[in-house]
Amino acid sequence: MSQRNLLIGSLISLTLMSTMSMGSASTNPSGEQLYDTLCAACHVKTPPATIAPPVFALVDHTRDMYPGKVEFVTRIVDWVAKPQADQAIMTGAVDKFGLMPKLGYPEDQVRLVAEYLYKSDFKKPKGQGSKGDH
Ligand code: HEC
Repeated sequence: MSQRNLLIGSLISLTLMSTMSMGSASTNPSGEQLYDTLCAACHVKTPPATIAPPVFALVDHTRDMYPGKVEFVTRIVDWVAKPQADQAIMTGAVDKFGLMPKLGYPEDQVRLVAEYLYKSDFKKPKGQGSKGDH
C-alpha cells in the first residue's frame, strides 16, 4: 500500500469513528455527558472551586433539603430554569460567587443531569468536615 492509500484509509476510519460517537452523543447523551457540557465549566468536579461551588457541595446541600429523588430532581430543574437569590439553599455561595445566571437550557437535558447528580457520589475533599455538619 502506498503512503497515500494509507493516509486515505486512516482518514476514512477516523471519520467513521467520529460519526459513530457523535451519533450516540446526539441521540442519547448521558446525564454525565450533559453535566460535563452544561455545568462543569462552573461547577468543577475536583475542588478548589473556581467561579461557583464544586459539584459535591451542590449535591450535598440539595440532598439535605430534598432527600427524595423526585423532589431532588424537581428542585434542580426549577433552580436551573430560574435561579433566584431568595430560593437559594447555598446563600453563602450567592454572596461569594454571585447568583447563578439563568442559562436557558432545555428542561429534558437538565432533568437527565439532575438524575445523574442524584445517584452520583462525589467525594468530598478531606478536611472540609463530615456530612451534615453545616
Ligand atoms: C456560568 C456558571 C454556571 C453554570 C454553567 C452553572 N451554574 Fe450552577 N451555580 C453557579 C453559581 C455562581 C452558583 C452559586 C450561587 C448561587 O447559588 O446562585 C450556582 C449554584 C447552583 C446550585 C445551588 C443552588 C442553591 O440552592 O443554592 C445548583 C443546584 C446549581 N448551581 C446547579 C447547576 C446545574 C445542574 C448546572 C448545569 C445544568 C449549573 N448549575 C450550571 C454558576 C453556574
